[in-house]
Amino acid sequence: MASSSCLSILVLVVALLASSASAQLSSTFYDTSCPKAMSTIKSAVTTAVNNEPRMGASLLRLHFHDCFVDASPSPALPWRRDSTNASKSNANSDLPGPSFNLANLTQLFANKGLNVTEMVALSGGHTIGQAQCRFFRDHIYNDTNINSTFASSLQGNCPQASGSGDANLAPLDATSATSFDNAYFTNLLSQKGLLHSDQELFNGGAADSTVQSFASSSSAFSSAFAAAMVKMGNISPKTGTQGQIRLACSKVNS
Ligand code: HEM
Repeated sequence: MASSSCLSILVLVVALLASSASAQLSSTFYDTSCPKAMSTIKSAVTTAVNNEPRMGASLLRLHFHDCFVDASPSPALPWRRDSTNASKSNANSDLPGPSFNLANLTQLFANKGLNVTEMVALSGGHTIGQAQCRFFRDHIYNDTNINSTFASSLQGNCPQASGSGDANLAPLDATSATSFDNAYFTNLLSQKGLLHSDQELFNGGAADSTVQSFASSSSAFSSAFAAAMVKMGNISPKTGTQGQIRLACSKVNS
């Protein structure tokens, strides 16, 4: 969902711990009103991820969607304050899709003030988590810029017929599915991107050199990712009395 920010603060806390806060937002927002917020959130996230590794991926993706979709008329940080509404049409128009080419992807990130290097760094979020067959079917059956052994291995659990096995899952980074590392980028160098949109980042275009640099240096990736996460968290935040801080994550305050 695009509108709720409650869970996304859990993710951003990780980036904030590693990076300094930006001008519009404050990492000390709860220092007085809820001084244990950071430590409580950190231990809750650690426990949740230990119980179910995919939880980290879900939170990261939620943060991305929360930052990209402006749920009218102005979006949201305690790190992000919560909107009081949601917009399906804005979600559809503002979020990139798995069939997008490099030009489409570049445009949607540019719309949010993010450059190609930042887009590539953030796409490294696909070093964890999974995708459903319906989102990578075309890529593994119809694209030519995919390693053939890799494509065959995926076809076993993702039938070609639309509607068959649509929700079957495959890891976005088959090399190290639950480690937050730079294998996503080394995979791209050997044409093992799971989504068409992933492989577009290394397909003879303007993003190639950045992919190569992150593939050869995990520290270059880590620092670029942290900086880009903070920048993404700063996209049109609600400030002051805009929106609200939900008392229960699942619903707007009554
Ligand atoms: C570049 C454009 C992007 C496209 C086209 C894209 C597309 C997708 C798609 C299609 C899925 C699978 C969803 C499903 O099967 O239900 C996915 C999963 C995921 N995405 Fe992206 N994504 C993009 C960028 C990002 C960014 C910037 C981040 C975070 C910084 C991110 C984090 C994730 C994560 C962690 C998952 C796995 C979620 C899980 O396992 O529950 N993605 N993405």
